[in-house]
Amino acid sequence: MKILVIGTGAREHAIVHSLDRENVSGVASHELHAAPGNPGIAGAATLHPVDALDGAAVAELAQRIGAELVVVGPEAPLVAGVADSVRAAGIPVFGPSGEAARLEGSKSFAKEVMAAAGVPTAMAHVCTDVDELEAALDAFGAPYVVKDDGLAAGKGVVVTDDRAAALVHGAACLAGENGRVVVEEYLDGPEVSLFCVCDGTTVVPLVPAQDFKRVGNDDEGPNTGGMGAYTPLDWAPSGLVDEVVARIAQPTVDEMARRGTPFSGVLYVGLALTSRGTRVVEFNARFGDPETQSVLARLATPLSDVMLAAARGNLGELEPLRWRPEASVTVVVASEGYPASARSGDPITGIEDAQILAGVHVLHAGTGLSETGDLISAGGRVLSVVALGTDLADARARAYEGVARIELKGSHHRTDIALKAERGEVTVP
Ligand code: AMP
Ligand code: GLY
Repeated sequence: MKILVIGTGAREHAIVHSLDRENVSGVASHELHAAPGNPGIAGAATLHPVDALDGAAVAELAQRIGAELVVVGPEAPLVAGVADSVRAAGIPVFGPSGEAARLEGSKSFAKEVMAAAGVPTAMAHVCTDVDELEAALDAFGAPYVVKDDGLAAGKGVVVTDDRAAALVHGAACLAGENGRVVVEEYLDGPEVSLFCVCDGTTVVPLVPAQDFKRVGNDDEGPNTGGMGAYTPLDWAPSGLVDEVVARIAQPTVDEMARRGTPFSGVLYVGLALTSRGTRVVEFNARFGDPETQSVLARLATPLSDVMLAAARGNLGELEPLRWRPEASVTVVVASEGYPASARSGDPITGIEDAQILAGVHVLHAGTGLSETGDLISAGGRVLSVVALGTDLADARARAYEGVARIELKGSHHRTDIALKAERGEVTVP
């Protein structure tokens, strides 16, 4: 199949890597394309310098190369309606319409849909001025949870005990494009990411994963796009996935269909397992990064079959998904200064040495090529080092051995990805 993947990150590299694995193992012979892609993706796909946010250009490219499936990876093109343009050109596309992607693009819209579908989530106030903001902060009390209403690449949320800091962030959101800010009840308990593949009516869950959003060990420091992930979650209650599909994903998909904006693609359900039960922290309209790197490493069913079935609306006919028994750990290598800033242009070496290790592969995110063709850093989250191992301890050891082989001046990473899970220290209140 000719497949075009839209995006530039490690998530898109993970998707291309999985599709390429189908080629290598001989179960398929795909011709892979990506736009705009990155130097890692270029190892398995032909890159096209097309703006991911330009729906007409993406649809034109898809037609020109004869794509039989287009996969839109990131949220910004989805919210901008790029999947609609491709669908309008008659090409199957994996990813929701712009209308359906509002589940991620607007926190207040997501809350409205959750309310209509009876989905358990944090209580929230949508505020449009500072008086409302202050009243909402005081109504919920500390810890304060203050969210920008629009897309913010994982950085629009502040969770703090400091009322003044909560107010400053809230005021900044009010001054922003939407003029709205969402203040929420604080959810205690561990977080889980569950990706649900949807075709507008049917929901097929993948395996749950956990992400590490704060920049530093022990969840210290500011939120980032995600510093690491792992799966499986041995500590999660049995029945969690069935519960989330029955009480959250399926009612949401049904509500979106009822509204005439069916959801297809990945409904990313971000959960907190709180003392009062399972609650939605957020919905996203695409695969999560870096959880995808770990989840897809374990998927034994060909990813192309799953995505094509979702795009064509026949997920109900798909065989039950098959999973590799290993554990998978992903560690993100970030550039100096991330997330406040991101140093670029430094040489990256050691990727090949890391990939020699059994079970280890390295996915590119913020990488580029120098004028002389050498690999350099070009963003905040630079690489994802992914390892499969017999259990979490083994996968962790392999992932960190891989990280140790990579050289990038000033780079940093968390050293505690999956550590608490390995030690059996994650508890559900
Ligand atoms: P979001 O962009 O909504 O995913 O929020 C980013 C991160 O902020 C989440 O992954 C949580 O770690 C944290 N967060 C968001 N909402 C809440 C909440 N209501 N209670 C506690 N933490 C939250
Ligand atoms: N892993 C967090 C995200 O993709 O939003």
